[in-house]
Amino acid sequence: MSEQTPLIRAENLTCVFDVSKPWLNRVIERRERQFLTAARNVTFDIPKGKTFALVGESGSGKSTIGKMAVGLLRPTSGKVTVDGTDLFGALKASSASALRRRIQMIFQSPYASLNPRWRVGDIIAEPIRAFDLASGDAVGARVTELLEQVGLAENDGQKYPHEFSGGQRQRIAIARALASNPEFIVCDEPTSALDVSVQSQVLNLMKDLQRDLGLTYLFISHDLSVVRYMADQIGVLYLGQLVETANREDLFNNPQHPYTRMLMDAAPRIDAFGRTADAVKGEIPDPITPPPGCPFHPRCPLVDNRCKTEVPKPFQTGETNVACHAAEEGRGRPEAA
Ligand SMILES: Nc1ncnc2c1ncn2[C@@H]1O[C@H](COP(=O)(O)OP(=O)(O)OP(=O)(O)O)[C@@H](O)[C@H]1O
Ligand code: SF4
Ligand SMILES: [Mg+2]
Repeated sequence: MSEQTPLIRAENLTCVFDVSKPWLNRVIERRERQFLTAARNVTFDIPKGKTFALVGESGSGKSTIGKMAVGLLRPTSGKVTVDGTDLFGALKASSASALRRRIQMIFQSPYASLNPRWRVGDIIAEPIRAFDLASGDAVGARVTELLEQVGLAENDGQKYPHEFSGGQRQRIAIARALASNPEFIVCDEPTSALDVSVQSQVLNLMKDLQRDLGLTYLFISHDLSVVRYMADQIGVLYLGQLVETANREDLFNNPQHPYTRMLMDAAPRIDAFGRTADAVKGEIPDPITPPPGCPFHPRCPLVDNRCKTEVPKPFQTGETNVACHAAEEGRGRPEAA
């Protein structure tokens, strides 16, 4: 854990959705109410200017955590603090606008987040006006500056979103996110919909902007190679729980959790030419009725009886935090096998 005071702190973030059928159906079908825990006791810190990445399969709770981190979704329990201020407490107060300005989110599909009927210049100017950051001619000048900052030209501000490619539209979404001078940006699969070559250009742009503007990122991706490129610290999510949190080097050089190792075996590797990648084995369980004990146990190659009944508690080994009985007992490491 960094000695620096974190800009963002997520503490025991838990989100439970009520996914019950309507009342009448429940009565007729004699069904109980049903709840889905999309995030459970998720805890992490992000120091200023750093990137924390969340990685996990579809449905593991990445977007749910991202939305809680920007204040779009209220946690069922737990809290998010920004520079020591409780995000949800502050969002009720008169200082809410000041805090909202400091936090932005970029989504996977920029087309869905950009109003198709507005010119790009107006899309980018909107937060500048909403937060009263400039007026008159200064708004246009700031829009031009932002367009250039993301690699677009001044006259692109006159066009509509449909006139741009996917990569350019994501640049527009980034410019809009930057318009309020944020410090913290949640990036939810920002390049997953883009071709690989365009993807790396946008990732490079995001890294450059982070360096130049001192931005702090929560970076969400299902793609380990993207996470490896972007992150300082990485949290591996499984069924809404962080099963391993480590810095980039430790995670990739010495993964502790069997699920992390399974994800890595399934990821295409530049240094593994000719080697067939193993698929991620097994199905993700139904999150409404998760397995008892360790939620990963039905898929785990190291499962034993303890795993089937006892939930593993996170423990610290070096700078890595991991929740696994086998890791704690020191059994089943690949080199020991
Ligand atoms: N509003 C909601 N109501 C009920 N269940 C929800 C809601 N939003 C998400 N979920 C459920 O919560 C779990 C986590 O969803 P989430 O979208 O956070 O996963 P994700 O890791 O972002 O997945 P993906 O990689 O597909 O985007 C899933 O089981 C999902 O079906
Ligand atoms: S606790 Fe057991 S089942 Fe869960 S990941 Fe560790 S070894 Fe596998
Ligand atoms: Mg998602």
